[in-house]
Amino acid sequence: MPAWKALPAAVRDAHQALVDVGNWSNGDVVRLSLGVSRPYLVTNPAHVQEVLHERAAIYPRGDDTALWRSVRKLVGDGILAEGESWVASRRILAPLFRPARLNAMIEPMASAVAAAVDELHGAASAGTPIDVGRELSKIVCSAIMRVFFADRITVSDALQIMAAQEMIVNAMAPRLLAPVVPWWIPMPGDRRFAAAVKSIDDILLPVLRQAQRQPGDGDDVLSALVRARTDDGRGLSEKQMRDDLVSMVAVTTETSYVVLTWLWPVLANNPDVATRLYDEIEQVVGGGQVRSHHLAELTYTKMVLEELLRLYPAGWIVPRRAAAADILGGVRIEKGTTIILSPYATQRMTAWWGPTAEVFDPERFAPGREDAGGRHRYAHYPFGAGMHRCLGEHLFNLEASLIVATLLSRFRFTLTDASIPATRVAASLRPARKVEMILKPLAHSPTR
Ligand code: HEM
Repeated sequence: MPAWKALPAAVRDAHQALVDVGNWSNGDVVRLSLGVSRPYLVTNPAHVQEVLHERAAIYPRGDDTALWRSVRKLVGDGILAEGESWVASRRILAPLFRPARLNAMIEPMASAVAAAVDELHGAASAGTPIDVGRELSKIVCSAIMRVFFADRITVSDALQIMAAQEMIVNAMAPRLLAPVVPWWIPMPGDRRFAAAVKSIDDILLPVLRQAQRQPGDGDDVLSALVRARTDDGRGLSEKQMRDDLVSMVAVTTETSYVVLTWLWPVLANNPDVATRLYDEIEQVVGGGQVRSHHLAELTYTKMVLEELLRLYPAGWIVPRRAAAADILGGVRIEKGTTIILSPYATQRMTAWWGPTAEVFDPERFAPGREDAGGRHRYAHYPFGAGMHRCLGEHLFNLEASLIVATLLSRFRFTLTDASIPATRVAASLRPARKVEMILKPLAHSPTR
């Protein structure tokens, strides 16, 4: 297989370069030539299934890829790692994500979202532009800190943690763009990275110690960690609890708001989609608070969110490392090689999505059409797959529907810049610039 000289294009637009290589190779496994690092790019859904599912044992996360190594420097050895500590963390945390438990959280989450959205009325009445990313972070934190962390972490602490995370995902960029640079060579973002990790610990460790003194019997993340016992009856070490706590704060906040930030430019550029979405929310929710029974009726909203996750999957790369030699798609993979899977690339390729692959079209996810045209199950895998499949999928779907329905039942919006932002290389798929909008209250919207 020829090596694709991807570096110059990757530096200009890393995300589009992955899509281009995928289209060029038509889904064959290709070796990227990134200096001394020569990972394989895997874009064919059938190969994705093999790596993440059928032969997952051969393809662990590995901690020497640029992404995982950076992530591990923040979150240590918990749920985002691999091996024994990951197994233990998954066993402790997975029960918190059971659908029955999450469904019971809809009403408290809806009230928290409504209260946070109501705070936007001041800016809306004054016609002041709002920073969409920042406001969505606040809304997400209000919902999640209440139901997942039992208000043990305040929203203002959570926002400070998110600001530190912001520093971290940006500080990772030089490493992601130059995966060839060894770790012992200091890079521009390293010092900021370390300072940001410390500031997160400074907030969360006191919260963790307080939870150890007063465990509580709730099923929030902190109570679950403090109550957890190993097979031989011991409690978790403080390091294990810290790693899982930091991981959980990171995954519950970062990805959700990043995905939802893309929605507004997308709606501004697809007015027909926007009109249908407004109509559905108007009919189902009207002017009151979104209630749990509304969610089942928000069919088009869900289609829009699926399509948003197709074109803007927060987890745009899912790196793995071959722990043994293998043959994948007819290509021999040597032990120790890095494998890059990219939901972003696969989900935009014409081979799986047709000539209109890059067009935003929620009809692709109309009920009953999920496998339209024989679409492969793994052609759309924004939440990963296999044993490391995202635990937060259902939670994201609930909270995203609540947030979108609440915002659009109260406001219409105009963007200060209506173009679709370019993407920025960071740990999650971020817009390259701030998205700002001016809100206009709807006639029936409650004012505070
Ligand atoms: C409420 C929000 C979310 C929570 C609580 C959450 C939680 C998690 C957790 C705990 C894992 C690790 C699972 C494991 O290793 O066993 C994970 C993995 C993952 N999540 Fe999420 N997540 C959320 C939102 C999202 C969103 C919005 C996306 C993408 C659009 C996403 C994409 C992924 C992917 C791709 C993986 C797999 C990574 C891999 O296989 O190496 N997550 N998530």
